[in-house]
Amino acid sequence: MRVLVTGATGRLGRVAVPRLRDEGFSLRAVSRRPGAGGGDGDGVEWMAADLATGAGLAEAVAGTDAVLHLASSPNRRTHEIDVLGTRRLTVAAGHAGVRHLVYVSIVGVDRVPLGYYRHKLAAEQVVAAGPVPWSVLRATQFPGFLAELLAGASRLGPVLGDPAVLAQPVDPGEVADRLAMLLRAGPSHRVADFGGPEVLRFDEAARSWLAARRSRRPLLPVRIPGRLGRELRAGALTTTATPTGTRTWADHLAHTYGGTGRR
Ligand SMILES: NC(=O)c1ccc[n+]([C@@H]2O[C@H](COP(=O)([O-])OP(=O)(O)OC[C@H]3O[C@@H](n4cnc5c(N)ncnc54)[C@H](OP(=O)(O)O)[C@@H]3O)[C@@H](O)[C@H]2O)c1
Repeated sequence: MRVLVTGATGRLGRVAVPRLRDEGFSLRAVSRRPGAGGGDGDGVEWMAADLATGAGLAEAVAGTDAVLHLASSPNRRTHEIDVLGTRRLTVAAGHAGVRHLVYVSIVGVDRVPLGYYRHKLAAEQVVAAGPVPWSVLRATQFPGFLAELLAGASRLGPVLGDPAVLAQPVDPGEVADRLAMLLRAGPSHRVADFGGPEVLRFDEAARSWLAARRSRRPLLPVRIPGRLGRELRAGALTTTATPTGTRTWADHLAHTYGGTGRR
């Protein structure tokens, strides 16, 4: 199966591309800067494309059977890239006769009142209304993303955060394996959400992150106000769907920090 992967240089894409290649998919990967992805020497065809302008999309989808759409821009031009860019991609894929488009979304996009999540929900709707038969998988947070949030939350010294917010980190490699299953299964519309093996409170996740880094920074509880806080504490970022992934937050920390520790 010839598959185009967008967002191939991202947290998920970097993991998904080699896994899918090793499973026998014939891959074309796109990035705005394809050189950043490793080049064609890795058995993957890299091409340049930009969802914000549509440049390169027609060439990228040409001759492919399926599109795995992972690209996203949470912090800038999100409407232009995630919503309108997804529409550009679906239209180009429709013209090229692509038979399946798989979109990765986030658990809670319909509950959590954040601008990025509204855009992701809108992009899901673009996919569902588009010309290409589709599947949508919502996943919970990747551990690398949670670690970046924790690093950001501790820029001022203590780790600031709402201790009762619930998270369920899921290994991107295990998400990639589900995406491979979906590609093989064919268009399935919205499938069961995919989360990690355990639901953690923010303070638990933060404490184990600090311990793995041999850091003595304190936690400074800051309650997130309003509906956003209520939803996050009520588990809007988590799912009861099974099966879940198996790789835990502790596994991620052990793999990342090992015994070396870092302040
Ligand atoms: N992070 C999480 O915890 C999480 C959890 C569940 C679901 N997801 C979803 O999983 C997907 C991948 O997330 P991620 O964390 O791997 O993303 P990421 O690390 O932020 O990577 C974003 C990717 O989007 C590409 N991109 C950005 N703007 C683009 C544009 N204008 N045209 C083409 N490509 C563009 C980037 O490629 P270049 O910069 O190389 O062009 C990059 O490969 C997203 O849809 C995200 O919503 C993420």
